[in-house]
Amino acid sequence: MQVSPLTAKLRDDFPILKRKINGHPLVYLDNASTTQKPNCVIDALVNFYEKHNSNVSRGVYTLAEEATEIYEDSRESIAKFIGVADTGKIIFTRGTTESINLVASAWAQPKLKTGDRILVTEMEHHSNLVPWQLAAQTSGAELLYWPVNLESGKSGTGRLDLQKLEETLKDSAKLKRKIRLLAVTAVSNVLGTVNPVAEIVKIAHAYGVPVLLDAAQAVARMPIDVSAWDCDFLAFSGHKIYGPTGIGVLYAKNERIAEMLPFQGGGGMIRQVDRQTSTWADAPQKFEAGTPPVAEVSGLAAAVEYVLDVGMPEIQQHELELTTHALKRLAEFKDLELYGPPVTDGRSGVLSFNLRNVHPHDVAQVLDESGIAVRAGHHCTQVLHKRFGITASVRMSFGLYNNTSEIDHLISALDQARDIFLV
Ligand SMILES: Cc1ncc(COP(=O)(O)O)c(C=O)c1O
Repeated sequence: MQVSPLTAKLRDDFPILKRKINGHPLVYLDNASTTQKPNCVIDALVNFYEKHNSNVSRGVYTLAEEATEIYEDSRESIAKFIGVADTGKIIFTRGTTESINLVASAWAQPKLKTGDRILVTEMEHHSNLVPWQLAAQTSGAELLYWPVNLESGKSGTGRLDLQKLEETLKDSAKLKRKIRLLAVTAVSNVLGTVNPVAEIVKIAHAYGVPVLLDAAQAVARMPIDVSAWDCDFLAFSGHKIYGPTGIGVLYAKNERIAEMLPFQGGGGMIRQVDRQTSTWADAPQKFEAGTPPVAEVSGLAAAVEYVLDVGMPEIQQHELELTTHALKRLAEFKDLELYGPPVTDGRSGVLSFNLRNVHPHDVAQVLDESGIAVRAGHHCTQVLHKRFGITASVRMSFGLYNNTSEIDHLISALDQARDIFLV
C-alpha cells in the first residue's frame, strides 16, 4: 500500500479509520460532507465534561471560571487561525448555515428594500442561497446570479468569470439597483473550484458592495486570512475542519458588527432588561444568546491546533498530490464526466463526476460494499446541478488522512460498478 509520509504518521490519530465496513478497511472519501475527528478533539470534549463542565460567563466559582477561560481562550486561537486579532469579531454559531442565516436576519433584512439586489453565484451551497431567497422574498429584493462557466477552456469548466462580475456590478449601478451583498463560496463543495476571493472582494468593494465568504470547504484546505482577503463576513463550520459538529464561526468586520441587530434574544446577549425593552451586550456576546456549546468550542480549538501542528502548507501539498492522482485515474474512464476543472490549478480535492448511464446512488452503493464512503446526490447544490443538466453526481473529497491507494481502490470499485450496471 502506497501511503504518503504525512498520511502514515497521521492515520493513527483518527480512531474511526480502524473500522472495517463490509469486511474492508474504511476508505473515507466524504470529507466535504464532514471530516473525521482526531483523538485530541475527542479528548478535548471528554476533558471538558470530566473536569470543567459548567456554564460560562455566569458563575464566580472555580469550575465556572475555568469553563469561561476555556471558551474565551478558544475564541482567541480560532480568531488567530483566520487572521483576526480582535476576538470581538468572532461569533460562535452552530455552523456555516447558522452563521449565514445570522447575517441574513440580523444584518441584511433590516437594510433590504424593494428593488435591492443580493448577488450570489450558481455554485453556492443551499446554505448560501436559501437564506438569501428568504430575505429577498420578505423584502421585495431580487436574487441575482453570477453564472458558472460551462465552456471547457484551458482551465476547464466550473469557474467564475471576474469580468462578468464587473459587468453585473456596473449594470446594477447604472440601473440604480443597489446590490446589498455579494455572497460567494471560497471553494465549491461540488466542483472543487477555488475562487480568487481576494480579487472578488476587491472588485465588489470598488462598487461599494460588501462580501460574505462561505469558507465551509476552504477552512480545512487553505490558509484563511480575513484581513488580507478584506471580506465583510466569513462563515465556516467546525466539523469540516476535524472539529465537532454543532459549532461554527461567523467573522464580521467592525463596521458590519455595528450595523447588526440582535439575532436571537435570551440570556447572555443583554446588558439590561426592563419590562418592555432591553439593551444589548457588546459583540460577540450580543449574538450568542443562551448557553453556548462550550465543549464543542474547546473541541474546535483543539482541531485548529491539530491542523496548525500538521501544517497548512503540508496539508495543501498533500491534497494537491491526491488531486493530481485522482484526476489522472478518473481520466482513464472514457464514459466518466467530471464536473469542474480537470486541472489542479485553482481547484481543490473535491471531485464530482458521473459514470454514463449509471445512477450515482448505484455507484455509491457498490463503493460502500468495498468499504468506500463517497457522497451521491445533489450535495445541496440543486441550482448548480441543474446548470450542468443533471440531478445528481458522485463526489469524492479528500482529508489529510487519505492516500493514493485509497483512490486506486475507488477506481477498481468504479470499474466493478460499471460492469454490474452496464451488462
Ligand atoms: C460550501 C458549503 N457551504 C455551507 C455548508 C453548510 O455547512 P453546515 O451544514 O455545517 O452548516 C456546506 C456543507 O456541506 C458547504 O459545503
